[in-house]
Order: sequence, then structure tokens, then C-alpha cells
Amino acid sequence: MKYPIKNICCIGAGYVGGPTMAIFAKYCPDIVINVVDLNKDRIKKWNSTKLDNLPIFEPGLEKIISENRGKNLFFSNKVEEKISEADMIFISVNTPTKEKGIGAGQASDLKWIDACARQISKYAKANTIVVEKSTLPVKTAQTIKQILDAPNNDFPDKNFSILSNPEFLSEGSAINNLENPDRVLIGGNNKDAIDALIDIYLRWVDKDKILTTDLWSSELSKLISNAFLAQRISSINSITALCEKTGANIKEVSIAIGSDQRIGKYFLNAGPGFGGSCFKKDISNLVYICNFYGLNETASYWQKVIDINQWQSSRISEIIVRNLFGTISGKKIGILGFSFKANTNDTRESPAIKICKQLLEEGAILKIYDPKVKKEKILKELSPYLYLDEIDNKSSNHKLIYSSSAEEASTDSDALVILTEWDEFKDLNWNKLSNLMRSPYWVFDTRTIINIEDAKLSGFNVWRIGDGTLKKGDIVN
Ligand code: UDX
Ligand code: UDX
Repeated sequence: MKYPIKNICCIGAGYVGGPTMAIFAKYCPDIVINVVDLNKDRIKKWNSTKLDNLPIFEPGLEKIISENRGKNLFFSNKVEEKISEADMIFISVNTPTKEKGIGAGQASDLKWIDACARQISKYAKANTIVVEKSTLPVKTAQTIKQILDAPNNDFPDKNFSILSNPEFLSEGSAINNLENPDRVLIGGNNKDAIDALIDIYLRWVDKDKILTTDLWSSELSKLISNAFLAQRISSINSITALCEKTGANIKEVSIAIGSDQRIGKYFLNAGPGFGGSCFKKDISNLVYICNFYGLNETASYWQKVIDINQWQSSRISEIIVRNLFGTISGKKIGILGFSFKANTNDTRESPAIKICKQLLEEGAILKIYDPKVKKEKILKELSPYLYLDEIDNKSSNHKLIYSSSAEEASTDSDALVILTEWDEFKDLNWNKLSNLMRSPYWVFDTRTIINIEDAKLSGFNVWRIGDGTLKKGDIVN
């Protein structure tokens, strides 16, 4: 083996870097794995003896951390030192959408990638393999390579091999996705470096699931995978409003179309719109790249996937207002679920943020409960839309109240809005909740998970996304 790997460094201890390296540590006991991050607080949490305090909630993660941390898996802020010890370095830092300057709102901000490449160029030893884990615009490897290969008088002998090895993990099932991936994609030009990374994955992944490509195909495939997944959700969501108008039911439609193997049954659940750190960012980036190459038709095709997503959340807010007699000013509304999907505490791009913002603008008082998202995070996400004295305080002016249970969120509320498909919302005690609420009361089920019959029996007016079969009179679609 031309590149014996004994020591790995991963830059970025986030939702991707943390779980990915935990699995590497589990299956590679002979390799020392250092996960480094600039953020001191985050590293402190990764090293916390109380596993409840890990910075990321991910089913199955606590066990793997407790079994491997301190053995061959280490978390620290010693970025330079750990880079200098590594045979292979993963870049797993965030690449948010640019907020200003050229490509603002669409292009990915590569300042962290640039900074990492410069650190690697300065501190890494010769012949290090550098692996892109972050989702990056196609051709970023070229930028990284240019920085790494720039003449360096202090270390003239250094050379680097660059690989693209995008992650396909989905939050909430990241551990399972990492342990049993559909495929592992490795892009690169140097066969020995590719073999070194394949050798790591072969410890737990079948050979025929490991695909190798050139660098550009690998980078682009990651972006396009996310675009296709998001497109499926926008496609099904675009039909929900039509179901509501025509008396059809999106759940039945999903099953009927998904039974065609060419379409497939997965990823067809209608909802309040997709969230998460990847979909919007990656499609925006795709739109930007297409426009850059003058492919305006391709760009506008993909832009529509984002537009439908935005429309889906705003039409839900409008439906809530219309049902509550055209005004929600001063009315209390219980929000159940704030994370962008179940089984994660991640709120990035959560549709709940958009919907809550619109309800606040209409003057509602929101009582928000999520099983895993902490109070501070909810307040941080919504504080830009509020004055200080409106946030979770005892003054009569408050507009935002953190609730620690579904019951608390229901108390004195006119409506409940289910925004995340947490298991505990599937069998809520509707009778108990109805006794706490102000009559007449509504439930808006944007995830099609509640037991409608029970809710109706307890006197709720029920609205469900994409369900045109609900009796007219109860609700306005
Ligand atoms: C990842 C990928 O990196 C992103 O490209 C992909 O599209 C989504 O998933 P994620 O792990 O979710 O991002 O991001 P985040 O949880 O924000 O973690 C990134 C970490 O990198 C942060 O903890 C940040 O402090 C750290 N960081 C950033 C560094 O340590 N150094 C830097 O220079 C920049
Ligand atoms: C996604 C990709 O799935 C993963 O492969 C990639 O590496 C990162 O981006 P993630 O963002 O963690 O993963 O979550 P995902 O399960 O894809 O869900 C994204 C959003 O789509 C969520 O808001 C979810 O609620 C929504 N969704 C998903 C639906 O509304 N309906 C569905 O049927 C599936």
C-alpha cells in the first residue's frame, strides 16, 4: 500500500464530521482519528461525560461515542497539531450560501474551505491525502489543489492528493446510512490515494457498493442527488393543493404512484416543505452554476423546485389564518415540532421557521414545543422577527412562549399546528388536549400523522395537508 493510513484528521465537528468519524473509529480500531473544530463550545460538548450533552442528537450516536471516544476517537481544538500528524485529512466544514457579494443568495461561500486548504498546506506533512466531505460546487477540488500546490518555500517537497468523497447521510438516520450505505462515492485522479480510502470503507462496506469516478463527476453527483431528492418533495407537495381543491387525498395518490417501481415509494411524503442544511443550499448553488455557464433554462427549471417549497409553507400559514376566521391577532397557537424533520435537533432551514415567522407577522402568540430542540435554539431562530419584550417573558406583550410539552402548548390555544413528524405526535391524547384549549379549536396536520378520527371525536376542526376528503364546513381549504 503506497499510502498506509494510521492517522486521520477531520476538520469540522458538525452533523457530518462527528457521526462520520464515529463510524470510522468503530470500524478502524487501528487508526487514530482526530476530529478538530475551531468552535470551543462544540468540542467541549463532544467531550462531555454526560452523553445527553453531545452537540448533535442522532439515534445510535451516543453508544458509538461512548464506546470509542478516548480509545481511537478524539475531539479537540488543536487544528494545526492534528493536521500535522495526519496521513489523511477530511474537510467537513460548512459551506453556507453566500449572503453578500457576487452570487449572494445562491453561490456557496467557500471561505472556510479556502481557510482549511491554507492550513493544510502550511501544517500537513508530505504526501497527505485530502478528502472533500462537504458538499461543494463542481470544480472546487481544483481550487483546493491550486492552494495546496502553490509554491511553498518552506516545504518544497510537499505534495497532496485530493479526493472527493461526498456524504449521503440523512440526519435522523445518519448512523444507519453510514453503516449500511446505498453507495460510497469516491472521485479522484490518483489510484493509490483512491485505494487507500477504499481500503478503509472495505472494513464494513461491500466492494460492489463502492463507486469510483473522476473528481468532477463525484462533486457534481452529490449536488444532483440532493437536487433530485428535493425535486421529488416539491413535486408531491405541488399536488397537495390540487388534492385539497378536488377532493382527492395526497396519501392515496402517493401510494398509487409510488407503487410503480419506476417512480418508487420512498421520499413521497407530502409536508410543509423541505428543510435541512443541504437541499436549498445545493439547488441554489446548482442554479448559480447553470446561470454561470449560460444555461438559463436549466437554471430556471431547478429554481422552480425552490419556489414551490417556499410557496408550500406560505400557503399553510394562509390556510391557518383563513380558518381562524381571518384573524389570528392576539390568538394563541400551539406549534408542535420545530426541527426540520423528526429524530434530529437540527433546525437549519426548517419550514417551522418560515411558518412561525408568518404567523407572528399576523400577530399570533406562539407556544412552541419540540421534543429535542432546546429553548435557546428556538428563541435564536425566531428572535429576528420579534422585539425583545415579546420573547418568552412574563410581560403581557409576549408573542413567543417556549412550552415543555404538547399539553403546555395547547393550554388556552385556539389551534395546534403539527410541523414535525415526531412519533409522540402520532398518538396525542386529543380528549385531554381539547379540554385545555379555547373553543372552537383546530388542528392543522402538515405531516399527515395524527389520528384524525380521534381528534374529530374530541371536537377538533381538522385540516390535513393534501386531504380534500375532509368534510366541508369543518375547514376552509
Ligand atoms: C456539512 C457539510 O460540510 C456541508 O457542506 C453539507 O452541505 C452539509 O453538511 P455540517 O456538518 O452539517 O455541514 O455543518 P456544521 O454542523 O455547521 O459543521 C461544520 C463545523 O465546521 C462547525 O462546527 C464549524 O465550527 C467547523 N469549522 C468551520 C471549522 O472547524 N473550521 C473552519 O474553518 C470552518
Ligand atoms: C439530505 C439527503 O437525504 C442526504 O442524502 C444528503 O446527504 C443531505 O441532505 P437531510 O437534509 O438530513 O438529508 O434530510 P432528508 O431526510 O433528506 O429530508 C430533507 C427534508 O425533506 C426534511 O425537511 C424532510 O421533512 C423533507 N421530506 C423528506 C419530506 O417532506 N417528505 C419526504 O418524503 C422526505
